[in-house]
Amino acid sequence: LKFKDITNFDIKNLERYLDYSKENSTYDMKTVVTYVNIGLDLEGYSKYESYTKSEAENDLTIIVNKYHKLPEDYEPSDLVNLENTNYKLREEAARAFKKLTKAGIKDNVIFYPFSAYRSYDTQNGLYTSYKNRDGEKEADTYSARPGFSEHQLGLAVDVRSSNLTSNLTTEDYKWMLDNSYKFGFIIRYPKGKQHITQFIEEPWHIRYLGVELATKVHDSGLTYDEYYDLYIEKR
Ligand code: DAL
Ligand code: ZN
Repeated sequence: LKFKDITNFDIKNLERYLDYSKENSTYDMKTVVTYVNIGLDLEGYSKYESYTKSEAENDLTIIVNKYHKLPEDYEPSDLVNLENTNYKLREEAARAFKKLTKAGIKDNVIFYPFSAYRSYDTQNGLYTSYKNRDGEKEADTYSARPGFSEHQLGLAVDVRSSNLTSNLTTEDYKWMLDNSYKFGFIIRYPKGKQHITQFIEEPWHIRYLGVELATKVHDSGLTYDEYYDLYIEKR
């Protein structure tokens, strides 16, 4: 196998592939290509692509991570409240979330949202307070810097099992892993994938992609960062 025979090989990254494979001799060539394409050979936030407002608004599948930024003044135009709450998602995602919660209730799994759409300013306030509390390095493992959060897309929601805990119970998380894609949501920060997603495991954070794509991502077993690079990124 040669680099150029790998489907997501990108000639402009060739030098980076070579450097990265020297530093990571245990990775095979396919892994090297995907990880470098994601940007993982570079420090998060050191080099990133910036979306326009219309890209953010018109494409429900865009990747937002430490290498892809949203405009500071981007706010989705079709935010609606989740039922009986002040939390907002984009209309299509809110409708899907309603179906997801209904299906959960049928199986005795009850989810409560505890965060959904967050503006750039809200994310800035959150990240800054975490940074002041835990330091930048630590905060960067669990909170996105402003402009780099999926919550600003209005397509991510954090859910918990009861009002008393900020997490999902093990059984409820299992249900989420097995069922959320049927309603168009993926688990965005799975366990054991921090070296790819750049965030610690977050069982509670789900991202809306639509049923078709969420199903494909679920079935692939890949993180969305990898899936996006392999099957969505145009090059
Ligand atoms: N906690 C996730 C990574 C965020 O801040 O968007
Ligand atoms: Zn979240």
